[in-house]
Amino acid sequence: MSETYTVTVEPLGREVEVAEGQTILEACLRAGVWLPHSCTHGTCATCKVEVLDGDVDHGEASSFALMDFEREEGKTLTCCARPQTDVTIEADVDVDEELEVFPVQDFTGTIVELTDIANDIKRLRIELDREIGFNAGQYMKVQVPGTDGIDRTWSMANPPTENRVVEFQVRNVPGGVATDGWLFKDAAVGDSLQLSGPYGRFVLRTWEEERPIIMLGGGTGLAPLASMVKHALINEEYDGHITLYAGGRTKNDLYDVDFFRQLEQEYPDQFAFHPCVSAEEPEEGYRGGYVSTVMEQDFDKLTGYQGYMCGSPAMVEGCLKSFMSRRLFPRDIFGEDFFNEG
Ligand code: FES
Repeated sequence: MSETYTVTVEPLGREVEVAEGQTILEACLRAGVWLPHSCTHGTCATCKVEVLDGDVDHGEASSFALMDFEREEGKTLTCCARPQTDVTIEADVDVDEELEVFPVQDFTGTIVELTDIANDIKRLRIELDREIGFNAGQYMKVQVPGTDGIDRTWSMANPPTENRVVEFQVRNVPGGVATDGWLFKDAAVGDSLQLSGPYGRFVLRTWEEERPIIMLGGGTGLAPLASMVKHALINEEYDGHITLYAGGRTKNDLYDVDFFRQLEQEYPDQFAFHPCVSAEEPEEGYRGGYVSTVMEQDFDKLTGYQGYMCGSPAMVEGCLKSFMSRRLFPRDIFGEDFFNEG
């Protein structure tokens, strides 16, 4: 008989049933109880909580994200922790009240588009078996077909109003199980997939006053920003201004340039777009350098702005420094970095 345990989440006082084999984070997100998280794979430490009562198995938590002394002090990572008894945890649930929480659900999807859009980057559009609710900027987990439970997390590039077809933008990684071994090899339109979501807290904070926004995206880190831009401009009554910098090594590493240029023309008072190339001389209409350096050339001071950034860990670290050099406070900077496992 499979065992379920009850996790009590303090300070919310919410009780959640955790099925055997399920992690605390998965059970809570599926029950609509928000807990902080980012990577969901035991490496970023965003989901660290205190275990006040009961026992957990720490699972695959990396020893860097959860050090030995922290385990002894009663900390755990909810994305890896499986209860061994009923458990009470204390989480830092400073959830913005305005953030709408969409419980994580399972979906079956069908590939409806799989096209090359740039060097080693494909657009993958999946029609879901029913509508999904999510915040612009969130991501889903896609089960890699033919593997034993391997999944990959990809951000939606479509706005939440397009809720039956989700779009991902995926870069190939040589040797990667999900990309080289499947998506760039033999995946095809019509294939069926299992997905779950939405996850993540890198979301467009539309409930805050309409402050101007700077967005910095590296490579496929553009995807969640694309969702946010479409949501803010096309579907929302947002009166602020967004400046988007999209970076790649060369022009051929960038995608959807014409789409964003078109948006620029449609919303001249609200949107500016700068495609940036770091490894070649920029052609007309492109800027030369990393997104952070180009942004620094354009702005001396960003007081009163919000900054959003997404890309590799090194890129995001560089962007954070750039934002702070322009007097943006950490509380106004929102970022997501990802290591592309392929
Ligand atoms: Fe990243 Fe748990 S360690 S979400």
